[in-house]
Amino acid sequence: MNAQNATKGLFRTKSIEDTLKDTDDSEHSLKRALSAFDLTVYGIGVIIGTGIFVLTGTAAKDYAGPSVALSFAAAGIVCALAALCYAEFASTVPVAGSAYTFSYSSIGEFPAWLIGWDLILELALGAAVVAVGWSGYIQTLLGDIGIHIPASIGGGTDQHWGLNIPAAVLVLAVTALLVAGVKESARFTAVIVTVKVAVVLLVIFAGLFYIKGSNYHPFIPPTSKATSTGSGGSQPLIQHLGFAPGSFGVMGIFTAAAVVFFAFIGFDVVATAAEEVKKPQRDLPRGILASLAVCTVLYVAVTLVVTGMQKYTALSEKAPLADAFNATGAHWLSGFISAGAVLGLTSVTLLLLMGQSRVFFAMSRDGLLPQSFSRVHPRFKTPYRSTILLGGVVACFAAVIPLKALAELVNIGTLAAFILVSLGVIILRRTRPDLPRAFRTPAVPFVPIAAILACLWLMLNLPVDTWIRFGVWMAVGLVVYFGYSRRHAVHAVQEPEVETVG
Ligand code: ALA
Repeated sequence: MNAQNATKGLFRTKSIEDTLKDTDDSEHSLKRALSAFDLTVYGIGVIIGTGIFVLTGTAAKDYAGPSVALSFAAAGIVCALAALCYAEFASTVPVAGSAYTFSYSSIGEFPAWLIGWDLILELALGAAVVAVGWSGYIQTLLGDIGIHIPASIGGGTDQHWGLNIPAAVLVLAVTALLVAGVKESARFTAVIVTVKVAVVLLVIFAGLFYIKGSNYHPFIPPTSKATSTGSGGSQPLIQHLGFAPGSFGVMGIFTAAAVVFFAFIGFDVVATAAEEVKKPQRDLPRGILASLAVCTVLYVAVTLVVTGMQKYTALSEKAPLADAFNATGAHWLSGFISAGAVLGLTSVTLLLLMGQSRVFFAMSRDGLLPQSFSRVHPRFKTPYRSTILLGGVVACFAAVIPLKALAELVNIGTLAAFILVSLGVIILRRTRPDLPRAFRTPAVPFVPIAAILACLWLMLNLPVDTWIRFGVWMAVGLVVYFGYSRRHAVHAVQEPEVETVG
């Protein structure tokens, strides 16, 4: 292959028509069973989780103080910009695979493959992170009734590493549920989401009675050089580019926003279920935007209440919401909140795993990963092979992996995906202006460009170490792409005459 053809090959696209046609083949397509309401429930089910229940404490204590509420608002705005782009893409290309599928049909195979690789990392590690968070909460609850899991199989202690068997068991149980079918999972999720939202509302309304005005002063604590996150690789990249330190002050709000961004991850998972939606053109944008809006309002309210209940310097880093009630003497409320967190984190694990298996499914259907994974179960109509494979891998991750830095790795991966999707909207408007778009992103190209810049800004606020780990993962991806995927792509086999963008 000469150099020009090689470059063209990297950017060959899979036409939207081909993409949509894949879903006609019943052995390789999914059952359309979800409504806009199911999607919103899915969205809330996956969005509210470790971010608000756990990361709020660290973000307020180390980076932003009470102004962490502004960090949540900032992260919510970034996500809303990206969501507008996701919604256009998801309503134009309503098939499994989310950002991966979107970019395959607009930018080209190589970027699509990178983003798929990136999404697998995001969703797999995200599920592992949340499962380990769940394990911590369930052990607290079990401890309250006198059942203690030994540290060696309960995730260890701060000083000693230990296997995390409860987290692995959760992942395997959830995997079984996903194999049994998406509608069943949606019902299960609906119950959990109701409880979770009720608990969040309980925090907001019960907490109002314990707010002390003095806790809000200073609302934006003055900039501090002493960060509890250490130095060098653990500092935000932006600091190395000559900007002010990222702890407190106005810059601290953005450092915290890059961390609590994790709390919003999930609305994009709604888009990964596109192929299972009854009326995707209408219901997908509704589901994505509604779940995002509900969560943003709840987050800002929760953080305002919690930082008003307890001085930010005293917030707990493991269970800040429950512990804020403990600190005011309302122990019974704290028990309710812990139970809600356990249920909430269960649904997040389920939905991240579901999103991940769908991306894997879409990539294998295209031949970029071994095709046998794209076979759906004859009775359940679910992509059972990819679900079981990835569930097993995530269970191992959850059993052995130390968490802290991984949450940031998940964030950087997700932000990279958002950038590609936003770029994809601009490209597809130029290359395929004719396509029917049930939902159109407003003010193109300004909104997508704003989304790209906003995501990039949050990425720059992540630690240098995170950038390095992300680079390593993507480098491994390059090896797999050039070693396997490129030669096995279905599209390459079917169409030797390549199609290019622009
Ligand atoms: N947004 C999800 C959470 O906060 C991933 O757990």
